[in-house]
Amino acid sequence: ETEAQDFVIDEELIKNIFRVRNEFSHKGTYGKITIAGGSYGKMGAAVLSARSALRTGAGLTFVLAPKCGYEILQTSDPEAMFMEGGIDYIDNFEFDETSVCGIGPGLGTHKKTSESLLKFLKNYSKPLILDADALNIIAENPDHLLLIPQNSIITPHPKEFERLFGKTENSFERTLLAKNKAHELQIYIVLKDHHTQVITPEGKVFYNITGNSGLAKGGSGDILTGIITSLLAQQYSEEEAALLGVWFHGKAAEFASEKYSKESMLPTDVIAEFGNVFAELN
Ligand code: APR
Ligand code: MG
Repeated sequence: ETEAQDFVIDEELIKNIFRVRNEFSHKGTYGKITIAGGSYGKMGAAVLSARSALRTGAGLTFVLAPKCGYEILQTSDPEAMFMEGGIDYIDNFEFDETSVCGIGPGLGTHKKTSESLLKFLKNYSKPLILDADALNIIAENPDHLLLIPQNSIITPHPKEFERLFGKTENSFERTLLAKNKAHELQIYIVLKDHHTQVITPEGKVFYNITGNSGLAKGGSGDILTGIITSLLAQQYSEEEAALLGVWFHGKAAEFASEKYSKESMLPTDVIAEFGNVFAELN
């Protein structure tokens, strides 16, 4: 049973959100983004996130990562630009603040990373995307939640959601808690699961029905972060970026599973199918 404020993310909704790329445009039209993440041994997460942003149309993509990720990124994704924020982990969140920022994939929770992220958030007020270890750092103290800029989009999986907001008895209670928190903090919560929910500050709940268990693999969430960050930079609203993002991510997974099977498909293969999703939308 659904309430009046509950919606399913269907093709009609998505086709109304999606905008065809303007021929009379330049890279500035499609925004700048910064993916902040990666650490020694976890650069793949930042790379996947950045590649995913590149493949969803962002104009310029920067990666703020530790020095250990420099050659990895420049070799794997030459279209992305590297900004050094530390040696083996990020301990300095300094980047071009005119960009839209997605923070968290592979970030790690080193004490210095944590201190630096919290200091950065204290002085930052534009909406951003927070995922993975950025959320784990925030979850260390309930007061940190107040540092999340209004209208930001957070993308916790169920365990990260629990760390942030506490345990719930069942999925109904969890959705209710998410609605309360989204309202209280004035943020968008993308609660990732088999059927991901997008919860808005006004208390609307959107259910996504694309995607499949081929996504149940490390790295799938990192590419979602890249997609949503990229869409936000392309002038989609926070709500639009979250809705189009989760639908798009799932749709690409469906294409990938047809080709490679749910077992064998990798997040990299999901990114390779983005073009087919755009072909359907255009
Ligand atoms: N059906 C549909 N979608 C699924 C399914 C499923 N059975 N399983 C997973 N997904 C989707 C989720 O909806 C979500 O979009 O795949 C994505 C998984 O995201 P995460 O749980 O964040 O996975 P991951 O990419 O591995 O996260 C990377 O961040 O969360 C931290 O500690 C985690 O180090 C890990 C890193
Ligand atoms: Mg994740």
